[in-house]
Amino acid sequence: MGREGCVGVHDRTVRSGGGSSAALMGTYARLPVAFVRGEGTRLWDDTGRVYLDFLSGIGVNNLGHCPPAVVAAIREQAGLLIHTSNLYRIPLQEKLAQRLVEGCFADRVFFCNSGAEANEAAIKLVRRYTQERDKGRERLQSGRFEVITAINSFHGRTLATLAATGQEKVQRGYDPLMPGFRHVPYNQPEAVERAITPATAAIMVEPIQGEAGIMIPDDGYLPALRAMADRHGLLLVLDEVQTGLGRTGRMWCHQWSGITPDIMTTAKSLASGLPMGACLATEEVARSFSPGSHGSTFGGTPLVSAAALATLEVLLDQGVLAGVEAKGAYLLDRLRALQQRHEMVKAVRGRGLMLAVELNSPAEEILGVCLSRGLLLSCQMGTVLRLLPPLTVTQEEMDQAVAILDGVLTDSY
Ligand SMILES: Cc1ncc(COP(=O)(O)O)c(C=O)c1O
Repeated sequence: MGREGCVGVHDRTVRSGGGSSAALMGTYARLPVAFVRGEGTRLWDDTGRVYLDFLSGIGVNNLGHCPPAVVAAIREQAGLLIHTSNLYRIPLQEKLAQRLVEGCFADRVFFCNSGAEANEAAIKLVRRYTQERDKGRERLQSGRFEVITAINSFHGRTLATLAATGQEKVQRGYDPLMPGFRHVPYNQPEAVERAITPATAAIMVEPIQGEAGIMIPDDGYLPALRAMADRHGLLLVLDEVQTGLGRTGRMWCHQWSGITPDIMTTAKSLASGLPMGACLATEEVARSFSPGSHGSTFGGTPLVSAAALATLEVLLDQGVLAGVEAKGAYLLDRLRALQQRHEMVKAVRGRGLMLAVELNSPAEEILGVCLSRGLLLSCQMGTVLRLLPPLTVTQEEMDQAVAILDGVLTDSY
């Protein structure tokens, strides 16, 4: 992939903290590359270099770049009707909601524009449902509103979702944080049990922690949380923004565990790169959202809904989802072989095509060298290389990516 010899450019730009335009707010330490075209797993930059994209726009381009069926649906819909607002019926949105609830626990969907907004909707729904349910129950009049979430979780960057997020670096500088969240260690059901108080309304976790470096809990974790939620009259909210839509080899990651949540959120790859989030819930819980209780100008526009419907058709009806488990097993195997050869690799883990290579040393430098050799990954928590290739990735592309990583690790001693 690509040309050799860009090592170091990456570091310079990252450390300077600069963007390419002084007119942008400095919220990102952007890498010194600008892409102009994409097709499948490949991206081309503005100098014509080609890269293997094993990050998929952070788990968004799950069907690869510019999947033809989605491009065609967007083109067609853009020529018919882009936006009307949610003051009117949107048949494509209704069709999409139907498609999403088929084959999962949910009965109803609320559409928005991002993962954070989907989680905002979930948190608001928890409060509204709990307050309505407990109305008249004198003992609980003080109000249950707290949500127990996990340390190192990531739920978004709005004021509520950053308070839900269990990472100090995301919260720094935004005091006072919104009240109503308690953070406990991940993958420890007993820590959740200990944190429950008369004010607790819900437990909210990611089925696999993505931003924390692909932390996969024990098989018994989600069932234990489900049982606990039932015992204490709490809602179980699963943030499937990163794990959902086939990423782990099942449509929804929690389907590996045999339990169902009361509320689930999704976003990322839902519309193949057009912004869309969704909050799904059971009928009993969803009923608490009545007209005027929540809303979004852009949520579920005809254009984005058309893109999402085309995305689901390719994912579910054209066999993409069916291939994820085997592809993931293959890539995990190849990465484990890398671990055997490189002492620098501390651990390799993954489920489906959500994988991590944890190093004994900082991963940021390795990431920069991978970029210079034409491979896109991300660095989590300082030492973890995260791989989120498109679900359409081929065996040849996986071999190429592993070969690049192998070479980078070899040259890094
Ligand atoms: C698990 C999880 N929840 C929520 C979010 C926030 O999504 P967005 O950036 O679309 O607001 C992310 C983003 O990475 C995520 O991984």
